[in-house]
Order: sequence, then C-alpha cells, then structure tokens
Amino acid sequence: MSKAIYPGSFDPVTKGHLDVIMRSSKIMDHLIVAVLDNPRKVATFEIEKRVEMLKLITEPYPNVEVDYYQGLLIEYAQQKKIDIIIKGLRAISDFEFEFQMALVNQKLNPAIETLFMMTNSKYSYLSSSIVKEIAALGGDISSLVPSEVHSMIVSKYD
Ligand code: PNS
Repeated sequence: MSKAIYPGSFDPVTKGHLDVIMRSSKIMDHLIVAVLDNPRKVATFEIEKRVEMLKLITEPYPNVEVDYYQGLLIEYAQQKKIDIIIKGLRAISDFEFEFQMALVNQKLNPAIETLFMMTNSKYSYLSSSIVKEIAALGGDISSLVPSEVHSMIVSKYD
C-alpha cells in the first residue's frame, strides 16, 4: 500500500495546496496532509483552524487524512511509518530551498524519499502569503482559496 505525507504550514490553505492534495491522493493509496505546529513561529491562523480548514476541504477524499506535527518532519514520518514525502514546486524560486530541505531530510533518513509535484500552472503564482496580503488589504480572494474556507479566512481580517 502506497502512503505519503504532504507537509506544510498551510497558513492558510490555498487552491494550489488543494490541487496538490487532489493529484497526490490519486496516485497514493493513503495521503496524510500534515500541518507543522511550530511553537517558535507565530502563524496567522492557529493550528486548530488550519487543521479544521484542511479537514473541511478534504472531506470528499476518503484516502486523505489531516494531522499535525511538531519538530522534525523526518521524525514524524518515521513515527507514522511512511517513507514518501510529497512537496509542491511552483517556480524556480522554490527549488533551492526545497532542494536543500530534501537533501537534509535524506541525510537524516536515507530511506525516506522526497517526491516533488509540479504545480498546476494556474496556481504557479499563488502562496499563503499572497492570499493573506490581498485579504488584509480588502481584496477578493475567492479565486485563490477553496470556497469552503473562504469565510474563515476573510473573517480573520474583519
Ligand atoms: O508550507 P511550508 O512552510 O513551505 O512547509 C515547510 C515545512 C513545514 C514542510 C518544513 O519547514 C518542515 O517540515 N519543518 C519542520 C522541521 C524540519 O523537519 N525541517 C527540515 C530539516 S532542516
């Protein structure tokens, strides 16, 4: 049975994340979308909210589970007995950092592979930061985030 982890901050989830979730869930038997709960970094959305949003949008996908983790991703993967990490790649600008993280994780545990999924070109410009900036300035984010979580995101900036 093929199992993978799709980790991230998801602060908040965007349509780009959902696209990677949908495509990964088609090629994996089981996918865990894992939200990093980093006590050293203040996120815009609390961990509970980020998990709730992901649970809402992944309801239609029975092989997708939503969870959160603290500490090293590789330790979380080991604990879950999963040896594939999926990361989304948007532009060349993502590559350097993602490449470094994949190599560090490979060093920490060579049995765990990182697979990169290219973004859908529709979402190559999209990021959680862009969503937050537009929402904070009162712009329309309806084409950028899943409709199920739109009001949860907008209400943060009321
Ligand atoms: O959505 P993001 O912020 O690009 O996701 C990055 C994330 C959360 C996947 C990554 O920073 C992570 O897993 N951090 C946990 C600590 C860790 O394992 N770091 C890698 C070794 S330096």
